[in-house]
Amino acid sequence: MKERTTQESEYSKVQKVRDVSAALLNGAFDPLADDRSAAPEDDVPTADQFAVHLIWTGRDAMLPERPYLIRLAGIETTVQITDLSYRVEPDTLEQLAAKTLIEGEIAYCKIALDRAVPFADGNSDDWAGAFALVDKAQKLTVGAGVIDFSLRRATNVVWYDMDVDKAARARTNQQTPCVLWFTGLSGAGKSTIANRVEQKLHAMGKRTYLLDGDNIRHGLSRDLGFTDQDRVENIRRVAEVAKLMADAGLIVMASFISPFRSERVMARSLMSEGEFVEIFVDASLAVCEARDPKLLYKKARAGQLKNFTGIDSAYEPPQNAEIVLNAEDTDPDTLVEQLISYLQTRNYL
Ligand code: ADX
Repeated sequence: MKERTTQESEYSKVQKVRDVSAALLNGAFDPLADDRSAAPEDDVPTADQFAVHLIWTGRDAMLPERPYLIRLAGIETTVQITDLSYRVEPDTLEQLAAKTLIEGEIAYCKIALDRAVPFADGNSDDWAGAFALVDKAQKLTVGAGVIDFSLRRATNVVWYDMDVDKAARARTNQQTPCVLWFTGLSGAGKSTIANRVEQKLHAMGKRTYLLDGDNIRHGLSRDLGFTDQDRVENIRRVAEVAKLMADAGLIVMASFISPFRSERVMARSLMSEGEFVEIFVDASLAVCEARDPKLLYKKARAGQLKNFTGIDSAYEPPQNAEIVLNAEDTDPDTLVEQLISYLQTRNYL
């Protein structure tokens, strides 16, 4: 580990981050114009994880673990801020604990890219190590930063290909692994439908597993609440587990509100082509609130439950779900039939 940076160098790094941000804005710096990436891979060090200083300039708060785009050294790729080490007060250099960043805030973070890139640290001259962060959907610049140092050489951690692979496990199970991802408001009927689908698949001799929001939050995600950043982390964990289970040859059902489009896109991107089936369990807020099976809407309206989806926390409906189930006025058994026949006609079953 590198020693803690001195006051003076911390000050100059904070200043450099602001310079990079200004230069991005006025066009003096274009992180995609750098030709470092043209150099042969083994001539320059490459890494996929870095400690960085950054300034957040996005209107929406920065959320750790949400996929953004990073542009540096002539490359654009996906990045996640995996650890927000501390926020820096620019004038006093005071280091403050933070879970998220709002517009104008500066922080020291760890980031993980989805591929190794050639890099230089920010101690080199000019714009070496400087990067831009870009919102994936809107393609707007949401931050700027400078690499402090690389955290690990990507080449030291390699993916080990096992001899018994996914195809072999799928053959033994005599099925096509897939992830059936149910999204929708609380009370829409996700768990009811997923549960009945699992019963049907089980009766057909399929090997399945059901990951359900309420249950996962008792174990794997018991340290998480319902702030935007906690939901992002919840879905990241669940998506990784679903991927492992699909790799194990199972038909996985994941039933989570999963309110944000970008995390559903992230979950899809983890799976193989065609493996992720997004199922929108579509029921309006009014209908879900009228059902209120756990009386949570009532509590939320009374102000006893904060960040409740649909009340004071957003739900972004899917735009390209594989299948939309009308859960407002169709009974669950019919919806289960619709889904099973969808899966049969597409050769999932
Ligand atoms: S998600 O947003 O992170 O996908 P998840 O599906 O795991 O949510 O959990 C949702 C379940 O937690 C709901 O079915 C409900 O029972 C419960 N819950 C408790 N508090 C909240 C809240 N503030 N917002 C939504 N659901 C909540």
